[in-house]
Amino acid sequence: MTRDPRYDVLFEPVKIGPVTARNRFYQVPHCNGMGRTFPSSMAAMRGVKAEGGWAVISTEQIDIHPTSDITPASEGRLWSDQDVPYLARMCDAVHEHGSLALIELTHNGKFAPNLYSRDVPMFPSHMPVIGYPWQCRAMDKSDIRDYRRWHLDAVKRAKTAGFDIVCCYAGHNLSLAGQFMLPRYNKRTDEYGGSLENRIRLFRELIADAKDAVGDTMGVVARFAVDELRGAEGMEFEKEGREIIEMMAEEPDLWDVNVSEWENDSVTSRFAEEGFQESFISFVKEVTTKPVVAVGRYTSPDRMVSLVNKGVIDMIGAARPSIADPFLPKKIEEGRIEDIRECIGCNICVAWDINKSPMRCTQNPTKGEEWRKGWHPERIAPKTSDDSILIVGAGPAGLEAARAAAERGYNVTLAEAREELGGRVTRESNLPGLSAWGRVRDYRVHRIQQMANVEIFQGSKLDAEQVLEFGANQVAIATGAHWRRDGYGGTHQFPIPGTDGANVFTPDDVMDGVVPDGPVVVFDDEHYYMGSVVAEKLRTDGREVVLVTTDSKVSSWTDATLEQHRVQARVIELGIEIVTSHKLDKVGSDTIELACLYSGQVRSVDAASIVMVTSRVPDDALFHALMAQEQQFGDAGLQGVKRIGDCYGPSIIAAAVYEGHRFAQELNTEPAEIPFRRELTGLSEGFALP
Ligand SMILES: Cc1cc2nc3c(=O)[nH]c(=O)nc-3n(C[C@H](O)[C@H](O)[C@H](O)COP(=O)(O)O)c2cc1C
Ligand code: SF4
Repeated sequence: MTRDPRYDVLFEPVKIGPVTARNRFYQVPHCNGMGRTFPSSMAAMRGVKAEGGWAVISTEQIDIHPTSDITPASEGRLWSDQDVPYLARMCDAVHEHGSLALIELTHNGKFAPNLYSRDVPMFPSHMPVIGYPWQCRAMDKSDIRDYRRWHLDAVKRAKTAGFDIVCCYAGHNLSLAGQFMLPRYNKRTDEYGGSLENRIRLFRELIADAKDAVGDTMGVVARFAVDELRGAEGMEFEKEGREIIEMMAEEPDLWDVNVSEWENDSVTSRFAEEGFQESFISFVKEVTTKPVVAVGRYTSPDRMVSLVNKGVIDMIGAARPSIADPFLPKKIEEGRIEDIRECIGCNICVAWDINKSPMRCTQNPTKGEEWRKGWHPERIAPKTSDDSILIVGAGPAGLEAARAAAERGYNVTLAEAREELGGRVTRESNLPGLSAWGRVRDYRVHRIQQMANVEIFQGSKLDAEQVLEFGANQVAIATGAHWRRDGYGGTHQFPIPGTDGANVFTPDDVMDGVVPDGPVVVFDDEHYYMGSVVAEKLRTDGREVVLVTTDSKVSSWTDATLEQHRVQARVIELGIEIVTSHKLDKVGSDTIELACLYSGQVRSVDAASIVMVTSRVPDDALFHALMAQEQQFGDAGLQGVKRIGDCYGPSIIAAAVYEGHRFAQELNTEPAEIPFRRELTGLSEGFALP
């Protein structure tokens, strides 16, 4: 297939100072939970994106000095020459595919607790460190001089490592340069405080220092958040956000503009649509002649073209779209638009980074596995036998198993009990705010429909005998899981009295269209999205709702997906009553008894019904029935049966997709005891006891 000419504009080169990007696709900086801790995994992940056509490939934020130590986060570091080789590995991987490598340098200020370095954190003014009971000290003039020197040293080391572009960072409140700009942080009375001219002095100096040192060979980029979405208390794009770009318009070689803080920039699809940042940044090109890049979870090529043609931006910035589909540019270039694996905006990628572990992606099960398992987002090894494969269940695990096994060349049959495909993804995408999750199904169904070696049977519930009669050589059982009714879960390990009543419901009932009588209690002992989403659904169905959680805030795990405060705000705005830190004592026909988790104090809530969001039970009856007939496997030609996805271990959708992919990758293999390569810390020379 060839490229549609209307997308030609996306493949024009863009000059960034002395270097030239081969097209308009710019992977903006993003952490990945690998960084310096799993450097080969990080480098391979970046290399695959370069192969997929992104012209600029950025690092994550790279801290430049022990006074900016964000241990235990697994991000980048460039404190000395010792750190150059692992970053050079990334540059090599990027250059191998003709892309430019960008490094984003930072000093995190009040976000650097210095747990490892034990230095006293620094900030424009005295200020508590975020999340810790100690404080930053106000930087004096010699600290500012030192900081400029560290930044400059890092720029020079970045050049040695092979980077083509350096990014001076004032993007998310996560760098001193940005923190100096904000009056709520900067209380200084010297030439670095007070007027706007003074507050941007440091940012200007960093850019000028970098240009003086490497400006003839490296591009120097400014990443700057034009608005913080906090009104007059913060940066505003119609006020100082604009003035700063006007004042510094021609100083960097490119402007990379966004909104701050991180949860506003990487907002989930539950709370914002593709392109949500456009209105904040559209002024930038009016005030600078330098190229402009911006973000907004862009996955639609038409939208990208329109942004360029309207003169809003010159380059398409993307973090999550490039994670979900590292080959997005290549697919546009090759006229394979329908093959794009669109980001669903769930922020599981963020959650793993926040949990200091190698990045995962719901849509892209190969993310983070490029080096350690040798998995590639677009290539998969051909089949090694003529085995036929039967997959029972077409949810996220079953669909991915079918797609990937078929891409390997196996003959695959996919049987689904329901009339519709997608399993939980289809059902959950009908809940408020979750419609984008249907993309998990859409991508896979589309791919499967392109292949002649997959047959799908919908509305086809199989029993063990039928599976045996079918005569497949390999079977995957992907029959999912259902929510428990009895309250069993993290807090309660025995059934709660009264949960056998007719007024007790589960999220499955709600997804089946049941609207329980109000007032309804939604009891959330799971703490991810389901409790708040079900509460929202019932409230918009007109019910009085009380959301009871065993945690101290609503949907607490959504802290990891950067959504928690938005979730809690929405619940409050909808008029849903919130009860935190309570467990269930008893369910009655018109009252629910709750007990405080700290004091044990009991209180009653008037409620006609309750929805239990506690834990799930695997739907594995078919698996066990099949295994009970294991002695007949030989006659039936059946060599292996595996459970995958929620049927094996109920989890998040990303885990189901991963398990489905793994099933296909491991067909006809004996998986190793440790099924991936590990990278161990190199031992220092000359070890001696003190
Ligand atoms: C997992 C993840 C990690 C990120 N880490 C960084 C970072 O280290 N530095 C940075 O400037 N922005 C970081 N960002 C923000 C992105 O660069 C980007 O501005 C934001 O995600 C919006 O773009 P998108 O909608 O294309 O994802 C990160 C985003 C994600 C999803
Ligand atoms: S994890 Fe979710 S938000 Fe992140 S890139 Fe993948 S699909 Fe997008």
